[in-house]
Amino acid sequence: MSGSGQEDPAGRDAAEGAEQVAEPLEGVKGAPDRLPPESAAFDAVQAAFVNAARLAGYERVRTPVFEQTEVFARGVGGSTDIVEKEMYTFSDKGGRSLTLRPEGTAGVMRAALEHHLPKQGNLPAKLWYAGTFYRHEKPQAGRQREFVQVGIEALGSEDPLLDAEVVIVGWDALTALATPEVDLLINTMGCTRPHCRPAYLDTLRGYLDDHADELCEDCLRRRTANPLRVFDCKREGCQGAVAQAPLLPDHVCDDCRVHHETVLAALDAADLPYTPSPRLVRGLDYYTRTTFEYQSGVLGAQSAVGGGGRYDGLAEELGGDRFPGVGFALGVDRTLLALETADVVPSAQPRADVFVVAVGAARPGGLSLAVDLRRSGIACDLAFDDRSFKAGMKQADRAGARVALIVGEQELETGTVTVKDLASGEQREVAREAVSNDVTALLRT
Ligand code: HAM
Repeated sequence: MSGSGQEDPAGRDAAEGAEQVAEPLEGVKGAPDRLPPESAAFDAVQAAFVNAARLAGYERVRTPVFEQTEVFARGVGGSTDIVEKEMYTFSDKGGRSLTLRPEGTAGVMRAALEHHLPKQGNLPAKLWYAGTFYRHEKPQAGRQREFVQVGIEALGSEDPLLDAEVVIVGWDALTALATPEVDLLINTMGCTRPHCRPAYLDTLRGYLDDHADELCEDCLRRRTANPLRVFDCKREGCQGAVAQAPLLPDHVCDDCRVHHETVLAALDAADLPYTPSPRLVRGLDYYTRTTFEYQSGVLGAQSAVGGGGRYDGLAEELGGDRFPGVGFALGVDRTLLALETADVVPSAQPRADVFVVAVGAARPGGLSLAVDLRRSGIACDLAFDDRSFKAGMKQADRAGARVALIVGEQELETGTVTVKDLASGEQREVAREAVSNDVTALLRT
């Protein structure tokens, strides 16, 4: 792996790892586990994003977790941080260079071109995806090496209303979750055909040449290949240098200006608050025209919970004909972090609505009772390991169940089950064959 550096698989240094051979194995640094109940909150965040996409007519696309390295090298851009230093790249047994996907857009566009979406009509093709992505970044709060994104990509249309729709879908998902202090930053990157951005980049390079003595080593190097990245540099000298720099929105062509104004007018019409951000440059090279980011004020340095934009030149970078697109991706991990920080995590669904507590000889009957309920669509769990009745009731409580079904020696003899409503504390005996109907009715109250 090009990104594995000096660390052992768990991200510890070699000496530390050697001392700990007798310890249980650890997961890889920056690739978090999500156990219950956090995993349920994580799924709820993802589901809110997916729901917003579905409501707007997006259909699922699945692409592989790895692609030929070239898809990202050409798609995301050779001078980006992602391609320069963050990709998990490896050779497979056939000697092919493959890369774990660091983002979703290039792979979706690759798939769209390969499967001839441009020729199929019925455009725009509106697609959503959810999955894991991989970047060899320095792990810290909100920045991981494996993370989950939910994204949408709308392909085959240059309509500025589509840009607005995409922005609104992300906004609505974040709002539905009550994500705290979200600010929508928006900018235009101009176009690469008919070249309003290249002309601007020359102007910017000229400006940066005049301020070369203020720039850091990295930015001096970036100035030639990708001068826009200087806007993203956190160093004080570079920030000072670009404070008076010419800004892209002042240099875009008429078509790009009208496109941008139409997007903003559509956001106004939808009552979406946004902050025009002429210095917003995103870390991927494929963007043209609209770019945007959702930032949450409760997060520290990693404040972007999502971002996206238009990428009308990406298809050509991947070897296809022109096929425009616009989309965004939201980071599920980072959004959950923002919700946790503000203590507004979506509450987890109870694990079971019904919990069977069967002890001793009644245990096999308890399992078949649980199975019957599950087959009639009721979420039902039961106690294992033949613990006491009291322990079983505690487990029912922890599972969040509304109803406990108790089967002891007495119930076994009489062919009944004690149905206990855990909300009211009331209980009664019900014939075994009537339990399913009885519980269904009780759960409706
Ligand atoms: P991105 O801004 O690189 O855009 O990533 C989108 C979101 O993924 C970020 O705002 C963040 O929430 C999350 N994210 C990114 N890197 C990490 C990380 N190392 N750890 C945790 N979360 C992370 C894209 O990936 C574009 N493909 C978005 C797009 C879709 N543009 C057009 N269509």
